[in-house]
Amino acid sequence: MDSKKFVFPSEDVKNYATIQSYDDLYDESIADRETFWANEAKRLDWYKPWDKVLDDSRHPFYKWFVGGKTNIIQNAIDRHLKTATRNKLALIWEGEPGDLKTYSYHALNREVAEFANILKAMGVHKGDIVTIYMPQIPEQIFAMLACAKIGAAHSVVYGGFSHEALAERINAANSRVVITADGGFRRGKATKLKDIVNKAMELSPTMEVCITVKRTGEEVYMENDRDYWYHDLKALPIASHKCATEEMDAEDMLFLLYTSGSTGKPKGLVHTHGGYSVYTSATHRMVFDIKPEDRWWCAADPGWITGHSYMVYGPLINGSTIFMYEGAPNHPYPDRWWRMIDKYGITVLYTSPTAIRGLMRYGESWVNRHDISSLRLLGSVGEPINPEAWRWYHEVVGNKQCPIMDTWWQTETGGFVITPLPITPLKPGSATKPFFGHEIGVVDEQGKDVAANDVGALVIKNPWPGMARTIMGDDERYNETYWSKFEKQKYYHAGDSARKDEDGYYWIIGRSDDVIKVSGYRLGTAEIESAAVSHPDVAEAAAIPLPHELKGSGIHVYVILKAGKEGNKELAKELLDHVAKVMGPIARPEEIIFADSLPKTRSGKIMRRVLKARALGEDEGDLSTLDD
Ligand code: PRX
Repeated sequence: MDSKKFVFPSEDVKNYATIQSYDDLYDESIADRETFWANEAKRLDWYKPWDKVLDDSRHPFYKWFVGGKTNIIQNAIDRHLKTATRNKLALIWEGEPGDLKTYSYHALNREVAEFANILKAMGVHKGDIVTIYMPQIPEQIFAMLACAKIGAAHSVVYGGFSHEALAERINAANSRVVITADGGFRRGKATKLKDIVNKAMELSPTMEVCITVKRTGEEVYMENDRDYWYHDLKALPIASHKCATEEMDAEDMLFLLYTSGSTGKPKGLVHTHGGYSVYTSATHRMVFDIKPEDRWWCAADPGWITGHSYMVYGPLINGSTIFMYEGAPNHPYPDRWWRMIDKYGITVLYTSPTAIRGLMRYGESWVNRHDISSLRLLGSVGEPINPEAWRWYHEVVGNKQCPIMDTWWQTETGGFVITPLPITPLKPGSATKPFFGHEIGVVDEQGKDVAANDVGALVIKNPWPGMARTIMGDDERYNETYWSKFEKQKYYHAGDSARKDEDGYYWIIGRSDDVIKVSGYRLGTAEIESAAVSHPDVAEAAAIPLPHELKGSGIHVYVILKAGKEGNKELAKELLDHVAKVMGPIARPEEIIFADSLPKTRSGKIMRRVLKARALGEDEGDLSTLDD
């Protein structure tokens, strides 16, 4: 497909879209960023209004809505209880076996209040960090909201991570309490989450209490005075459905979310109550042009930032009806998603290119069995979308009627940064233009803007309310990772390479650091390598991404064995299993390659880009720093 060709949104789209002119509002938002964001903040309720919109006195530790008092729950739930929204569905949930649960905003409030009171009874206080490791069931959302309500921060760990990875995150957050479930359903089988939590707890000295939601009914080991069934606690008088929402400072921590970076230790990024509320709700409302009658489906896992911002917080603040599905997209048949869109009348679908490619391979007949004409907008996130997937999504899923909002953002940004609006003329594969308030650059090593169509480093030149405030307990690392590269210009260094075309459209190429995106999931080469090296036969390892038809990128690991060990098929298989076991199944490499040496710089850093260029048969680039 000619990716240069514009696909104009239809007149229908222009007619319903609230924002009619991108350029005017964009110019306004740049000319006076603080007023733009203050106007957005005024759409929300505050216990006490802010004294100052932005405090930029201590770069890069920006503060937003300084002096303001709020709680994200005040806007995600409490204020809706005073309007007709209280009777509206907040959540429609379908389990993989086909069971269905629905909650109005009124019912959501009761569930969250009960959970919040249980947490309080378990000794959780304002400022504590609760770890959540759950399948995609309603209680996962209730747990997050309950923490927020009482002023505790949540740290959600994706349910596909191993017990080692979970323990590392529990320990780093000093969590006393973990919330889990016996398991969830995936491809007709029960996952064994509680078993993983049990193993993690053995490695976590800080763990005192584990609350387990019964989902699958499988037998699990429970320890006296440590393990509690959620339904048992819910039956006690402690679980009253009345609970006051804790008044928080705008800058207080709402959650901690671990993500992979260039170095080994995962980074716990901190997001706040005030700025994050404003940013997620504004971006969600404007980019997807949210209407009261929408049924919004963000098909992500709440364990990732996409789930936090656009499955839970943004949509609830906007009073949307959210849809959530527990299991695999192809269970029991590859029309599962389309069946549910038809059944529930979903109007907006927001998902990843990997999911689209996965469903595309089954062919369009599965889609065409169902009436999915309720869809009016589509969204994409997590990795660049290739033209074939874009076209299939647009033509087969969207029936050529639904513009695709290709949103570029990161765990660190909290919400969309480069994204179309429904009225934006689209170019397949481009995330198009900056969201309001953002000045984006594609720059060279010195931080100077490169010429149109040249590749450079993607930077954000301004602060924004949804930005992560720091890496928990490590301001230095936060500054070093994101702000030191273009220190002079005070640019945020995103870690992606990109180009901007002659029309001012941005094209994201991919990570330029040691992060690998597998199926849109973010993994660090250092974590993968240390998992490989934890095998007794391995001396050294280097992980690189290579293109993969379904996953976007797959992991390929070069391995140097210890003296006397011999590389063969059995050992390669054992190492694949080993990495998957240590990190979790999403990190399973495609291939293990036995090597005698690895290309390194003189200071001993592995030059992964050289390995990658060799594997792809491409030019190896500048080799002046290569040792030997
Ligand atoms: O490389 C970019 C890619 O995902 C990275 C951020 O990953 P994570 O923090 O896990 O957040 C994913 C969900 C927001 C980015 O640095 N990425 C994200 N969205 C896009 C994308 N690449 C291309 N196009 C996108 N729309």
